[in-house]
Amino acid sequence: MTSTIEPGVRAGTELAYLTGFGNEHHSEAVPGALPVGRNSPQRAPLGLYAEQHSATAFTEPRAHNRRSWVYRIRPSAAHPPFHPIEHPTLRSAPVTDGLPDPNRMRWDPVPFPGEPADFVDGLYTIGATGNVLQRAGIGIHVYRADRSMTGRCFADADGELLLVPELGGLMVHTEYGRLRVEPGEIAVIGRGVRFRVDLLGDRARGYVCENYGQPFTLPELGPIGANGLANPRDFQYPVAAFEDREATVEVVQKFGGRLWAAEYDHSPLDVVAWHGNHAAYKYDTARFNVMGTVSYDHPDPSIYTVLTSPSELSGQANADFVVFAPRWLVGEDTFRPPWYHRNVMSEFMGLVKGVYDAKAEGFVPGGASLHNMWSAHGPDAATYATASTQELVPQKIDDTLAFMFETRWPVVTTDFAASAAHRQPGYDEVWRGIRREFTG
Ligand SMILES: [Fe+2]
Repeated sequence: MTSTIEPGVRAGTELAYLTGFGNEHHSEAVPGALPVGRNSPQRAPLGLYAEQHSATAFTEPRAHNRRSWVYRIRPSAAHPPFHPIEHPTLRSAPVTDGLPDPNRMRWDPVPFPGEPADFVDGLYTIGATGNVLQRAGIGIHVYRADRSMTGRCFADADGELLLVPELGGLMVHTEYGRLRVEPGEIAVIGRGVRFRVDLLGDRARGYVCENYGQPFTLPELGPIGANGLANPRDFQYPVAAFEDREATVEVVQKFGGRLWAAEYDHSPLDVVAWHGNHAAYKYDTARFNVMGTVSYDHPDPSIYTVLTSPSELSGQANADFVVFAPRWLVGEDTFRPPWYHRNVMSEFMGLVKGVYDAKAEGFVPGGASLHNMWSAHGPDAATYATASTQELVPQKIDDTLAFMFETRWPVVTTDFAASAAHRQPGYDEVWRGIRREFTG
C-alpha cells in the first residue's frame, strides 16, 4: 500500500498528514531528499545520512513487520553518553513499591505539579503490569504540563506511547514530523521515536498507555466484515518536518524502567525524509464507527476496540484501547448500561468528557478507575434504579468519551497513587445502595 496526503482535518491547523494505518508511507520535506529505488545508496541525497529504525525483529512476518528508513542531517549515533536521572512519579513494571490490590479504585483528576512542568516532568504513574525488560505488559500514566518542552526531547525505548488528551491540545514534534492532537483525538508515538511536546494552550493533561508489548494494531473484524470500528484510512501520520538547529538539547530516554539523559549539541529532530511503517500517528475518535445491538442485550465491550496489542495467546491482549463514544441505545427488553460483571482481564478507565453511562456521578473528566482482575463492578445504584425501570425508547448517548485500557494481567498500583489524596476512599459506597429485590 502507498499513502496519500490529505489536508489537516481541523480548522486552524496548517499540517498535512499521510493517511492509512500501517501503510508504507513516504515523505520528504525537501524535494529530492528521499532516495528512489533503494534504501541506502552509497551517498544519500543532499548530504543526508541514511538510518533504519527497526521496531520489530528483522525477521518477523511481513504482516507484523515495522521498520522505517530515515534520512537525516546527522546519524542518531552521534551523541554523548547518557547518564541516569531521577523522576519522582514515573515507574515501570514490575512496580516494587506498590501492592497488587483486589479493591476497586477510583480517583479524581491528578493535581498539577506545584511547580512548572513539561510533558516529561509531569508524568505520573498510576500503575503498571508485566515486565518492562521482557517487553510485556503496560504502564498506565497521566501527563500534566503547563509549559512546552524547550531544549528537550524525549524517547521511550521501553514502549510505544498511546496519548489520550483530556485537557488542552498538543503539538507533538517527532522525528517523523508534527502531529497536532486535541482532546477527542489520540496519538501513538512509536517505540524509540524522539519527540517533544508543545502546548497549544496554558495547560495540558491526559492519559498515557505505555505499551511494552507488541505494537498496537487494528483488531480483526471477523463477522463484522471488511469495514467498521476504526477504519484504517482515518489514521494520520506526519509528513516529514525537520529542525536544523545547533544548540544544546537535552535528550531524555526511558530505558529499562528509568530515565537517562544526554546533552546533544543539535536537535535530534533532523529527519528530512523518511519512508516506512514505523512512526507516530493520530486518530480522531469521532470517526470511530460504533457497532452495537439492534435487537436485545449488548455485546461485550470488545466491540468498541480501537487498537489492540496482541500477546502470544490468541485473543488475550497485552493491551486493548477501547472507547465508549457517542452512540444510540435501542435494545429492547434490555438493561442498557454495562452489566454487572467480573473479568479476568484488568480494566483501567478514564473519561475525556461528559458522563459515562454506568456511573451517574463521581467519575469525572480527568479522573480514573481501576477494576483489577476479577473485581466485581458495574452500574452504581442510581444508574441501576434508572436503567431497570425506564421506558425503553431509542436513546442517544451524546457528548461523552470514556475509554478503557484493558490488559491480560493484574495492574499493580504505585504506592503514591494508592495513597493519593485525590483517590476516592468511598468508592465501594456507589454499590452499597443496591436493594435486595428478590421476590421468590
Ligand atoms: Fe468492566
